[in-house]
Amino acid sequence: MAYAAFRSIGAYVPEKILTNEDLAKMVDTSDEWITKRTGIKERHIAAKDEFTSDMGLKAATKALERSGVEKDKIDMLICATISPDYFCMPSTATIIANKLGIKGATAFDVTAACTGFIYSLSIAKAFIESGMKKNVLIVGSEKLSAITDYTDRGTCILFGDGAGSAVISATDKKEEAIIDIHTGADGEYADLLMTPNGGTGSAHDSLEAESGSCFMQMKGNETFKVAVRTLTNDVKEILTENNIKSEDIKHFIPHQANLRIIKAVGDALKMREDQVVITVQKYGNTSGASIPMAINDLYEAGNLEVGEIMLLDAFGGGLTWGSALVPFSPISKL
Ligand code: UT7
Repeated sequence: MAYAAFRSIGAYVPEKILTNEDLAKMVDTSDEWITKRTGIKERHIAAKDEFTSDMGLKAATKALERSGVEKDKIDMLICATISPDYFCMPSTATIIANKLGIKGATAFDVTAACTGFIYSLSIAKAFIESGMKKNVLIVGSEKLSAITDYTDRGTCILFGDGAGSAVISATDKKEEAIIDIHTGADGEYADLLMTPNGGTGSAHDSLEAESGSCFMQMKGNETFKVAVRTLTNDVKEILTENNIKSEDIKHFIPHQANLRIIKAVGDALKMREDQVVITVQKYGNTSGASIPMAINDLYEAGNLEVGEIMLLDAFGGGLTWGSALVPFSPISKL
């Protein structure tokens, strides 16, 4: 049987930084409020002519270089994004594949908001385990600044831009394999986090739609509560089902939405501080890119060793959620 191994990681962040002080000049907020309620100090913002695919390309190039897998061996490219280059088509995945010079591989986008990377990972795992694909390149890339309303202090303080990428390959060694992935969704909560305009569900003849607003809207406080509850339950479940204790997890890498959510879930799971990876202070919430960006930080700091188990978890618009138990299994060091 083929197993799916997490081979490599790469990421990219745009140069421009938007600080809390910058935001305080744009809306009625303060560095103190943002830091206390979210843990965020700054976030990166893509240039006007820098697209989601451009950032994804840079992250994917690094992940490929580090994987030891030749790009012509990639037979599937998945891009997790809610801020694609184009509305509906072509997918951002096909654009990234073309920019990378990958021809003929299956390529498509996944819309699962902040859970997009974990959803993509689960698709890669399923295709590899079924024998249908051998090397899957996953990209989480977001230009959230393009869909953020910078007059809404409830959302504009949270989001940032960036990309992360990973190569997942077939292996026959069970010890290298992704252990388990959970994904779920509940559309009953769809209105908590949405971009209400621009799709067939919006009234195209309304003034609101004409104004071109495809901005994100969020019921922040309600989202917060559902996030903590759902994440805690889901992570407890995946640990129990796989007979793994939280103290045996080397790296707990949650979606970086809000430091208070990360701490609440970490505490409920009795995680020690040294287990929890936190990057929200410098990148804000980058949705589908946040988990691979956090893994990349860990890797580039020299803190991710072969065989160490990462526990990933995420929660986002839809509502969607997911968790994954993933050993780091690079080819070159085995
Ligand atoms: O990644 C996908 C999932 N997303 C999330 O998980 C995000 C979840 N939500 C959150 O992170 C938090 O709910 C927020 C950071 C968005 C808001 O924090 P909160 O502690 O839930 O605040 P709140 O919405 O309950 O608002 C409390 C007060 C309100 O004022 P009043 O009504 O008490 O006078 C808000 O108007 O804080 C006010 N407020 C602000 N004040 C200063 C809201 N945003 C701001 C702001 N600066 N930026």
